[in-house]
Amino acid sequence: MKLYLDTANVKEIQEGASLGLIDGVTTNPSLVAKEGRSFKEMLLEICNMVDGPISAEVVGIESEGMIKEGRDLAKIHKNIVVKVPLIPEGLRATKKLAAEGIRVNVTLCFSPTQALLAAKAGAWCVSPFIGRLDDVSSDGMELIRQIVTIYNNYDYKTQVLVASVRHPQHVVEAALAGGHICTMPYAVFQQLVKHPLTDIGLKKFLADWDGMGKK
Ligand code: E4P
Repeated sequence: MKLYLDTANVKEIQEGASLGLIDGVTTNPSLVAKEGRSFKEMLLEICNMVDGPISAEVVGIESEGMIKEGRDLAKIHKNIVVKVPLIPEGLRATKKLAAEGIRVNVTLCFSPTQALLAAKAGAWCVSPFIGRLDDVSSDGMELIRQIVTIYNNYDYKTQVLVASVRHPQHVVEAALAGGHICTMPYAVFQQLVKHPLTDIGLKKFLADWDGMGKK
């Protein structure tokens, strides 16, 4: 499973990418607004830090505007994947952009029927938001399982990008469900490596080794 960082903060991306395990980055208008800087400049900086797909979202809500924005975003760098919301106008734009060879991440997906339409429109990936479903007492991970099954049944090439991840267990379940990509906040990525028994075990190994030297 590919691991992406879900942030527009270049410091976090730089730190996360230094391990060499980050495959891509997702941003959205809220994450970009939080940084308060030029969108294009930020995208270029991110593209130079991570050599993988970098999602950048359009803000238009009519297909013509989305298509124009999408083309402009795609021109910024070869790694840009254009993010388009899962509304009828977004699907129209996806079909057009995909036909032009531009990779599209269809975002704000909350149902299997939406995901089916995204695949039919030629999306490069679809982003089901599992945390936001969990927030309203729905089973976000069940949506991932359903989409993976549907895509496998018909051999759709659209990848399932598990989004709105809140904790490491979401990452585990995304991998078990066969999600192709999992994007997560930097704080969640940092938690993936941690286990208290690893720290306790290492401490004891080193203490025993030190003790041997003194004998
Ligand atoms: C996906 O690409 C979105 O940026 C993101 O995962 C949304 O997460 P949130 O529900 O934590 O805002």
